[in-house]
Amino acid sequence: MRVCMIGAGYVGLVSGACFADFGHRVTCIDRDVHRVAALKRGEIPIYEPGLADLVEANVRGGRLHFAAETSSVGDADAVFIAVGTPSRRGDGFADLSYVYEAVREIAPRLAATAVVITKSTVPVGTGDEIERILRELRPEADLQVASNPEFLREGAAIQDFKHPDRIVVGSDDARAQAVLAEIYRPLYLNAAPILYVSRRTAELIKYAANAFLATKITFINEIADLCERVGADVQEVARGMGLDNRIGGKFLHPGPGFGGSCLPKDTLALIKTAHDNGAQLRIVEAVTAVNDQRKRAMARKVVAALGGSARGKTVAVLGLAFKPNTDDTRDSPAIPLITALQDLGARVRAYDPAGMEQVKPVLPDVSYCNDAYGAADGADALVIATEWEQFRALDLARLKRLMTAAVIVDLRNVYRADEMKRADFRYIAIGRGTVE
Ligand code: UDX
Repeated sequence: MRVCMIGAGYVGLVSGACFADFGHRVTCIDRDVHRVAALKRGEIPIYEPGLADLVEANVRGGRLHFAAETSSVGDADAVFIAVGTPSRRGDGFADLSYVYEAVREIAPRLAATAVVITKSTVPVGTGDEIERILRELRPEADLQVASNPEFLREGAAIQDFKHPDRIVVGSDDARAQAVLAEIYRPLYLNAAPILYVSRRTAELIKYAANAFLATKITFINEIADLCERVGADVQEVARGMGLDNRIGGKFLHPGPGFGGSCLPKDTLALIKTAHDNGAQLRIVEAVTAVNDQRKRAMARKVVAALGGSARGKTVAVLGLAFKPNTDDTRDSPAIPLITALQDLGARVRAYDPAGMEQVKPVLPDVSYCNDAYGAADGADALVIATEWEQFRALDLARLKRLMTAAVIVDLRNVYRADEMKRADFRYIAIGRGTVE
């Protein structure tokens, strides 16, 4: 199959490289000429494990190409739209201007029987509008519009792409279904279920799935708060719940609240869609409100660990990315945490293996350090905000020597209470008792 990917951002690049790896001929098109030039030089603009090697191998194999303009669209059997859909300022609705601009730009060049597929997360009904635009601009052509949402987790995107739980294809058209079946054939052979549904249903599946994941996280976060009050251990509660197959153990890890480029944005957009269509999503509304409050509550937790006041204290924050194995700091809980601590008079020293450059413009007054120990130097408390592997086995004796006070606030529950007790730290985790 000849495939074009419009947008060489996170989703476009991962999907394009994986499709090329399946044997398709793929061109990733991005209007950012600098990005395209960098990709042609073999430089990958995002941090994603395995992506650089995958891109390199497929470029070398002649299956993966990059372009800054859309001329190659004319040869493609399938054109995926993978441009950004950020939250629109003010109302939280997904901003679709990049999607529609891309459609208008490619329309005159599309082959008469091309299938246009949205991979970007787009609200219900976006496919209908794309179809309308294409009909208007190409009345003579037999173009099809399908929805094929991605379910990639940052940091595990290639694994998720190649071993998906399911593939969702939203189209009632036999030709569009056949093209997508052919594109995904290697996965289909691996028995990944492919779900053929209507376009609107596919669009909603993506939002409903992300809203449900956000709900699971927020649920266990509130249960963690309750555990702290009643003297229960949330890790064991989550395990006890998760072993029930109807519930499942995934996404039951309590933490400082969900962040990232998808869950916060998609929950807001789903609420907006519900409002616009006269439906209520009270659970999702509560989830977003509880999650926002939680991010602020984390600063209070650190202040309590500092003995009630942050003024004049130094706090080491380990982890700025919203989760490990990514340099993405969008909506990262670490950012409001640090801002709140600074507002309350604390000095902050921070370290993240990949995300420091991204936060420097928003957090200019932080001392950025070269590693966890550098951050801990002279700190009155150390906060683990992101569960990077390298923070899971810190040399506690060395930390203790470096820090002014032996206090660890573990917002990701990566340590055990007994090891902290042995190392003689005051240890505050999430939803578990404090070690004094
Ligand atoms: C998510 C979805 O998982 C993916 O299917 C979708 O396509 C895009 O959005 P991503 O944003 O990369 O992926 O990260 P994810 O691993 O889902 O984590 C989201 C946030 O929830 C992070 O802040 C993470 O720390 C938090 N989280 C996740 C928890 O706090 N607890 C959990 O149990 C799981």
